[in-house]
Amino acid sequence: MKFLIINGPNLNMLGTREPSIYGKKTYKDLVRFLKTSAKKNNVKIKIIQSNSESCIVSKIQKAYNRFNGIIINPAAYTHTSVAILDALKAVSIPAVEVHLSEVSKRENFRQISYAGMFCFETFAGFGFDGYEMAIKALINKLKH
Ligand code: DQA
Repeated sequence: MKFLIINGPNLNMLGTREPSIYGKKTYKDLVRFLKTSAKKNNVKIKIIQSNSESCIVSKIQKAYNRFNGIIINPAAYTHTSVAILDALKAVSIPAVEVHLSEVSKRENFRQISYAGMFCFETFAGFGFDGYEMAIKALINKLKH
């Protein structure tokens, strides 16, 4: 099984960015965590991070016929991007949404998730562990 892991804008600033919300671990730490988690769960992964909505849309389009699953933390685009939702629908690859923070307990403008309307599951508020939960959820989904 091969999963595409997409991280949206400002996640490259982890460690520096609002540590009281996102923690002190860096994006490099997240990449290391994801690689370990993929090995442990016996899946192949490709990890990308982009600050650009159009790049994320293109990466989702290119995933067609190449990946069995998508794990996406669209970051701020979660709450604004119909284009990312439409791209997920277009390729129709099983997808899981992840957020490091518990978005449901944050500002009103974070209460809508466009990508989440396509994803079959969301893990929010579990920090890095949410990504491993997403890997396991995708494996389960694809097995049945
Ligand atoms: C985030 C939550 C979003 O609301 C925010 O814009 C982010 C990160 C999270 O992982 O908790 O950039 O997706």
